Amino acid sequence: MSLVPPYIESLRAYEAGRTIESVQRQYNLSHIAKLASNENPLGASPKALDAIARTLDGLNLYPNGGLDLRRVLAGEFEVKVENVIAGSGSEGIMSNIIRTFLGDEDEVLTTEAAFIGFQVLARSRGVTYRTIPYRDWHYDLLAIAQAINPHTKIIYLANPNNPTGTIFTRHQFDEFYAHVPERVLIILDEAYFEYAKDNPRYPDSMHYRYDNVITLRTFSKVYGLAGVRIGYGFAHEELIRNLLKVKLPFEPSTLAQAAGIAALADKEFLHRSLALNTRSLRYLTEELAAAGLTVIPSEANFVMIVLPSEQHVERLSEGLLSRGVIVRPLKAFGLPHCLRISTGTDEDNRLCVDTVRSLG
Ligand SMILES: Cc1ncc(COP(=O)(O)O)c(C=O)c1O
Repeated sequence: MSLVPPYIESLRAYEAGRTIESVQRQYNLSHIAKLASNENPLGASPKALDAIARTLDGLNLYPNGGLDLRRVLAGEFEVKVENVIAGSGSEGIMSNIIRTFLGDEDEVLTTEAAFIGFQVLARSRGVTYRTIPYRDWHYDLLAIAQAINPHTKIIYLANPNNPTGTIFTRHQFDEFYAHVPERVLIILDEAYFEYAKDNPRYPDSMHYRYDNVITLRTFSKVYGLAGVRIGYGFAHEELIRNLLKVKLPFEPSTLAQAAGIAALADKEFLHRSLALNTRSLRYLTEELAAAGLTVIPSEANFVMIVLPSEQHVERLSEGLLSRGVIVRPLKAFGLPHCLRISTGTDEDNRLCVDTVRSLG
């Protein structure tokens, strides 16, 4: 269709994983373990849910663009309000970054099979999108630095990475950063920050407040608010000032902002979620490996499984689905021979491992 630019025509719309209801209906099952989207299996932060209920009264009024949440985050992370942005999920902010900083001749550089949300956003801008292969399922940061050319404008790094679950270390990031010119913007996507932050080798980017680094974080994962759409970012005030010109003025919603503020204070839920995840990661990693699968050690709330072929992925994911376990094949990311399994409740993790064993 001539109305549509070729770089949009050639995209494929994001295909969400199977819903609990559709799998329940198809296989006539009473319990489904949804281990497909890296969500929090404990539900949402109870404090966030209370805050949402308390906010219902004011919904006839427009939101204030995330200002309340920005103030709270500035206090918590000891930066200025001018260094903080809030948006409809970290993907909402990613979309603003792409619209704010990319010109037609600019290029985006990242790893192969990067987080699919970023791939979709960057490709929809119609600029050149270049990728560097993984090295042992980790970002090859030095190869990425070496691939910078005069057109490179944005480098996207997720740490921990989705879908591999791996991290790059402080030392690796320092070495990489030394090679990056100031005219290149680095997006440090820390959607899974809370799961990795206690690893002493993990580079918490709040210690790297460089002028060309934007940190993105989210309430979708450990705080259990994926359905609410609330995320935030930190950067130099000049970057934030320009992002605020492009951002939809009334994002995030009033409910999302209130939920985020309350979730941040819900340390009990945070600790409970992290404790479950630590236990689940260990269990899934050990037991799936014992069942004969190649499991990539993860620092996030999921593990990636590497199989011999796409057919093996289809067979395993269909087999799991038929017993009520939804996992995520990674073809759309660009890894047709891999699949990803999110951590669940103890019961759901067990169902997953038992099913893998029974499928042989
Ligand atoms: C690396 C990464 N970044 C960002 C997101 C999206 O987060 P949000 O729900 O805040 O848009 C995800 C979600 O899966 C992710 O894996």
